[in-house]
This record gives sequence, structure tokens and C-alpha cells, in this order.
Amino acid sequence: MNNLYGRHCLTLQDFSAEEMNQILGMAAGLKDKQSKGVTHQLLAGKTLAMIFQKPSTRTRVSFEVGMWQLGGMALFLSSQELQMGRGEPIKDTAAVLSRYVDGIMIRTFDHEEVEELALHASVPVINGLTDLLHPCQVLADLMTIKERFGRLKGIKLAYLGDGNNVAHSLMLGCTKMGLDVAVGAPPGYLPNARIEEKARGNTLESGSRLLITSDPLQAVENADVIYTDVWASMGQEAEKQARREVFSSYQVNSGILDMAAPGAVIMHCLPAYRGEEISSEVLDGERSIVLEQAENRLHAQKGLMALLIGENL
Ligand code: CP
Ligand code: NVA
Repeated sequence: MNNLYGRHCLTLQDFSAEEMNQILGMAAGLKDKQSKGVTHQLLAGKTLAMIFQKPSTRTRVSFEVGMWQLGGMALFLSSQELQMGRGEPIKDTAAVLSRYVDGIMIRTFDHEEVEELALHASVPVINGLTDLLHPCQVLADLMTIKERFGRLKGIKLAYLGDGNNVAHSLMLGCTKMGLDVAVGAPPGYLPNARIEEKARGNTLESGSRLLITSDPLQAVENADVIYTDVWASMGQEAEKQARREVFSSYQVNSGILDMAAPGAVIMHCLPAYRGEEISSEVLDGERSIVLEQAENRLHAQKGLMALLIGENL
């Protein structure tokens, strides 16, 4: 039995650097098999429940297709159609779903809901995005960076924009794996202090560096990767206009790209709002690796699911 079998993935802090490498290695192996048409039905007969309280394109499709390619099946459960949407407690939902399925993926607002689900589920729970974290995105991002640069240690990633769920998971995942991280965010929109503290703890182990600044130019200096995300996340639609003004000097555009290291690449978890957090020119330009990133959601999550749900690996 592998040491990740039966574990949850609520945050990348759930894993050691070695375990993260194990997941990324499994993901790369499965990606190779998929490209060669070699069957890899490691989860034959297994099922994954996917609870969505927010919209999704990539997460939904990559988990569903990934489970199918692994020989299992995934059920899409919109929270409005579940009794959960009418007030059935998360605790009961967790216990009942655990009697039917082999894993539960959930996308929701409050991170504590995912923790509550994991507490009462007897099968692995995977965080498919909360207001606080987006660990599966960053697993795919690390896979993409490793493919591009051939290594993770010593790469500098600069994130510009809102100190949000994606920024938080990048801070945790990158510092754990030895990448230097610089976050450039306006005052009032800096990352969560508790996440920062955890990321600083990771730097002590990995030897990487973490910089949090409100100066976008300082953040991107010598960066190998420039990363951005929407200025208003799901659930913050009412703040869209106000945020546009606050964040205007944090846009990723060709001027910002010029300040980074030569050969720097552009990343974005998508969906993107062209002309807001990123210019079209840069998003669609030759330095953009956003589609590789989006594709790797499939492979990274297959690696993750195989290890968490597949007892015979
Ligand atoms: N990046 C990401 O999680 O995309 P979706 O919201 O489309 O799932
Ligand atoms: N920060 C964004 C990420 C979307 C994948 C959001 O939470 O809406």
C-alpha cells in the first residue's frame, strides 16, 4: 500500500516535499501513458463524488475525464441539487457519501466546510477550491514549471494581484518545493497572515525565499515565472468595479514581462479577464504557458487520485 492511500488533500501542507514529488512523478508517468495510448486503469471500479457550490470548467472536466481514464467514474453533484443545498448537515452528507463512493472532491466557499467534510468522511476528500486555497491548481502549476525548466528548486515565481486562494496555494506549494516566491499585491489585499506564516515555515526547511510587497516591479525582478489571477474571485462579483481601480497597476503586460528574467514565462490559472489582470498580448503571446497549465490539471489530479484512492499502488 502506498503511504498516500486514504489521505485527504485539503491543502498542500498535507504533504511533505517528498510526497509532493511522488504525486508529480505519478502524474508525469500517467501523462506519458495517456499520450502513448497505454491503458492505466489504476482506479477501475472506483467512484468520485464531485460537489460544486461554485461554477467550474477546468476542475470539473479534468476530474471527470481523469477518473474515466483511470477506469473509474465521477458523479457531478451541484450543491443546489443535493439535500445539502436545503440544509442537510455536511457531517451527514460526508458520512452518507462515504458509504457509496471512494473519494469526494468539493469546491465551495468557506474552507472550514471542507475541513468539516474531511472530518466526517471515511474516504479521501480533495479540495477543488475554497475561498482560502486551491491546491489542485498548484499541483498542476508545479508540474508545468518542472516540465518547462527541468527543475523546481531555485526557480523564482512572482505572483501579481489579489492575495487570494491561488496566491495562498502558490505560496505554500512553491516554498515547500524550494521555489522562491514574490507576491506583489496592493495594501488591503495582501495574502492571509496565517498562510504567510506557514509559507515562511516552509522556507526554513526548503531554503527558498518569500517576499510579500506592494511594489509590482520589485516582485517581478529576476522572476522566471510571472503568475496572475482574477482581481475579483467567485463570490466577489459585487466588488468588481472597485477592485479594477485598486489593482490597475498590477496588470501583467509586456512592460511587466520586460522587467522579469530573460526567458520568463507567463502563467494564469484561468479563467482570465483580458485587459484587466492580464493583457491579451501577453496571455496569447509566445511566453504564455497557460494551456499547458490547464492541461496539466488533468494529469496532476490523476496522479493525486491514483495515490489517494488506489490501494494497490
Ligand atoms: N482554474 C480553475 O480552477 O478553473 P475552473 O474554475 O474552470 O475549474
Ligand atoms: N481566484 C479565482 C480562481 C478561479 C479558478 C476564484 O476563486 O474565483
